[in-house]
Amino acid sequence: MSAVEGNSADDPILPFIDTTKPSVARVYDVFLGGKDHYEVDREVYRRTLEITPEVPLLTRTFRQWLIRVVRFLASGAGIDQILDCGSGLPTAENTHQVAQRVNPETTVVYVDNDPMVIAHGRALLEENDRTHFVDANLRDAEALLAHPTVTRYLDMNRPLALMQCGTLHHISDEDNPVDLMARYIDALPSGSYVAISHFYDPADGSELSELSQKLETNLLNAVGSGWCRTSAQIEAMFCGLELVEPGLVPAVDWWPDGPRIRPVATVEQIAYGAVARKP
Ligand SMILES: C[S@@+](CC[C@H](N)C(=O)[O-])C[C@H]1O[C@@H](n2cnc3c(N)ncnc32)[C@H](O)[C@@H]1O
Repeated sequence: MSAVEGNSADDPILPFIDTTKPSVARVYDVFLGGKDHYEVDREVYRRTLEITPEVPLLTRTFRQWLIRVVRFLASGAGIDQILDCGSGLPTAENTHQVAQRVNPETTVVYVDNDPMVIAHGRALLEENDRTHFVDANLRDAEALLAHPTVTRYLDMNRPLALMQCGTLHHISDEDNPVDLMARYIDALPSGSYVAISHFYDPADGSELSELSQKLETNLLNAVGSGWCRTSAQIEAMFCGLELVEPGLVPAVDWWPDGPRIRPVATVEQIAYGAVARKP
């Protein structure tokens, strides 16, 4: 499907795309109705639909939240530089398109380490000279912030936005996402914003909690990560920063674009998100 399909694991130049195992980025792409995936990824999609046929609403909710947040950052918050960790594969509305529509001067640096995103997506994401892509592991905050592309294009003496959308639920408790975020937040200049979206589990025995747990088990079996967490656990990742109104809420309730014209499905309530500002 991509130009590098069939390349070998020891190819020195092209990233090796393992088409026998599903990947987070490709499975997410299936859910969003994209084209950059393989049969193994589509199999995960079909298995997830068996849990609830409404599950595509969950990924759409995450993506629509990202779009609203980027619009807020570039307009209301006046942010003109964004570090988007875990860009995912290019989709209809990418961070740089949303931000640069508001302010064409906005610089966006994308980060991802999925071989498919690196091989295929970066060309589409790096659309203009204010948009850059870094192949790096977001788990190493210090290395990422010291990456030459990051230091060249993002001015760490001026406010920027750090986006961790749909990434931290792929970091296990053992790998300590709170400590990771503390390292990022420490390095951010004053006036910067942090956006996090994450899978939610109220852990209260409710229908929503049961569904969260089923989806978590399914995702852990499929791709080895994808933990649902309580709102206290997610809020801890902001390391005490003050959350912008309305705080940490179901993503559908975070400054929706307009009135609700249908009831919110249970599965949509698994997408949680918040934005904070560093004083
Ligand atoms: C679920 S997608 C979210 C995409 C986008 N941020 C959004 O919210 O629509 C998560 C992305 O994070 C990337 N990712 C996960 N762990 C990563 C890591 N350790 N380093 C870099 N990227 C990572 C995956 O490859 C994937 O593209």
